[in-house]
Amino acid sequence: MEKKAKLGVIGGGFMAQAIVRGAIKKGFLAAEEILVSEPDESRRRIFSDLGVRLAEGNRETAASCEYLLISVKPQVFPAVAEELSGSRAVFISIMAGKTKESVKRATGAEKVARIMPNLPCSVGAGMAGTDCSDLTEREKAFVHGLFEAVGEAEEVPESLLDAVTGVSGSGPAYVYLFLLSLIRAGVAQGMTEPQAKKFALQTLEGGVTMAKSSEKSLEELIAAVSSKGGTTVAALDSFRKDDFEGSVLRAVDAAVRRAKELSE
Ligand SMILES: NC(=O)c1ccc[n+]([C@@H]2O[C@H](COP(=O)([O-])OP(=O)(O)OC[C@H]3O[C@@H](n4cnc5c(N)ncnc54)[C@H](OP(=O)(O)O)[C@@H]3O)[C@@H](O)[C@H]2O)c1
Repeated sequence: MEKKAKLGVIGGGFMAQAIVRGAIKKGFLAAEEILVSEPDESRRRIFSDLGVRLAEGNRETAASCEYLLISVKPQVFPAVAEELSGSRAVFISIMAGKTKESVKRATGAEKVARIMPNLPCSVGAGMAGTDCSDLTEREKAFVHGLFEAVGEAEEVPESLLDAVTGVSGSGPAYVYLFLLSLIRAGVAQGMTEPQAKKFALQTLEGGVTMAKSSEKSLEELIAAVSSKGGTTVAALDSFRKDDFEGSVLRAVDAAVRRAKELSE
């Protein structure tokens, strides 16, 4: 009989590939400890190239793993749920908008961890909000280890996962929008696009690195770049006049409201 897998994966798409790659790369899991269900042949090959085992179907995976990562699209989940029923695995759902209760109702699972990861987990710099409150400390450590292999993980109550969606789930797009705006502004001032992109990207990265490492608050860091009557103050005054902070607040609020509408 096949050895039981530590981690089963239902749906080997973009997110699952990132998580599995990260877990193997960081040495958190050995490839042979992972069993994946994925219908698409080209994606199956990606996993077999990593040395990961492939299951014939979802039932096999669900029945023979300790932890089960549910990484299909939420709209596919109803069709998959019945195949997962009877599994004794600890479920790890990354499906946007699916509550723990709805996953339990559909599958009969006793323990469900709900996670909201984000896109940069594909480059090892993700941020995941986790609700592991159904799990034992050992199980929670496994889930955190899995997501820390692709970035950072922070435990929050399930009621905060919509806020997590609004801040870090959708957040990478806000960063790209800001970058795009800064690059276009540079071009408007006479830079070439590649030039403006280089200056904007390095500025964002430098700003984030300082914000992460400095003992100063963000307000103090802003003050440190703002000499009285200088250029930064002129730009910040313009941002304030346009209610930049209010604009971000309303955007995040819109994302959170949409997350609540989609939640079931
Ligand atoms: N992408 C993000 O930034 C992000 C962020 C947070 C959360 N999430 C959540 O993560 C989950 C996965 O997202 P993703 O971007 O990785 O999607 P994805 O690339 O479409 O991955 C889903 C995979 O599931 C496969 N699949 C479809 N039907 C299946 C079935 N019956 N049994 C097993 N596998 C099946 C799909 O194959 P086919 O394509 O052949 O159908 C696909 O390979 C979603 O629930 C999403 O809400 C994503």
